[in-house]
Amino acid sequence: MSDIVIGGDLTVDRLGYGAMRLSGDPGIFTPPKDRAAAVAVLRRAVELGVNFIDTADAYALGDNERLIAEALHPYADGVVIATKGGNTRPSADEWVPLGQPAYIRQQAELSLRRLNVETIDLYQLHRLDPNLPVADQIETVADLQKQGKIRHIGLSEVTVDQLKEAQQVAPIASVQNLYNLINRQSEDVLEYTAEQGIAFIPWFPIAAGEHAGPDGPVGRIAAEVGATPAQTALAWLLRRSDNIVPIPGTSSIAHLEENVAARGVVLTDDQYATLDGLASA
Ligand SMILES: NC(=O)c1ccc[n+]([C@@H]2O[C@H](COP(=O)([O-])OP(=O)(O)OC[C@H]3O[C@@H](n4cnc5c(N)ncnc54)[C@H](OP(=O)(O)O)[C@@H]3O)[C@@H](O)[C@H]2O)c1
Repeated sequence: MSDIVIGGDLTVDRLGYGAMRLSGDPGIFTPPKDRAAAVAVLRRAVELGVNFIDTADAYALGDNERLIAEALHPYADGVVIATKGGNTRPSADEWVPLGQPAYIRQQAELSLRRLNVETIDLYQLHRLDPNLPVADQIETVADLQKQGKIRHIGLSEVTVDQLKEAQQVAPIASVQNLYNLINRQSEDVLEYTAEQGIAFIPWFPIAAGEHAGPDGPVGRIAAEVGATPAQTALAWLLRRSDNIVPIPGTSSIAHLEENVAARGVVLTDDQYATLDGLASA
């Protein structure tokens, strides 16, 4: 499988892992019911060569970061933990962006503690706060970068215009937007990030398992390739653009192993084109 270099110095395998699903249901608000099983999933991911793991301070109110440290600290060489801040959780049903500098600085400090690192490799603003200028929010994370608390700045759910505005203030290493085989609402953002050498991290890469069923849109091609539908959806993403780093999430070792094996799935040009035609947005 191919590597990608994020921000000029973080070399990772392009098939990453999103840890959000290792939080309790409903609402990604509580710790996992089976903590030992969650720890085992994280350890198995690293054993399989996954070295890019995505989390956020908002997942289980910080417990997701703590869980990653519990499972993986001291981190093996080359393992990159990307986290996010700037999304508050007043309740299990709400995600409310908050970009006040004092809050972001506090949250970065808490992430440093919970992840047990001196520098966060990739710190992503989970959402831009619509009540504050974009430039002010980027200045806050650029300050954290100058202080050595974070290495690289990433953004999540941004438009091309917002990304360009952010780039006026500081280099942006990654963008994490909703994107998958069917939902291409961020196609323009993907194209712009590819031009700019910015990593594009598509969240919801297999649409919460919706693309994983044998009767789903990818089922026929998956059968042709001899892969599962989830693997086929991931293989399409990996081929779509070299700057894509999918982070499929799962709480199951079997699904993790299946997803990681998508690295080896090769689509023919015709199969790729057919999958490409499935987009609904
Ligand atoms: N930036 C943002 O705003 C944002 C928003 C949402 C998520 N994220 C990040 O993106 C990551 C991925 O997003 P996501 O978890 O929402 O979506 P996803 O990876 O498309 O879907 C994960 C869901 O699909 C199921 N699944 C995974 N592999 C499967 C397989 N091989 N076969 C059948 N079902 C499978 C999982 O259930 P099982 O547990 O049963 O396998 C889980 O419920 C998250 O973990 C998080 O790190 C970011």
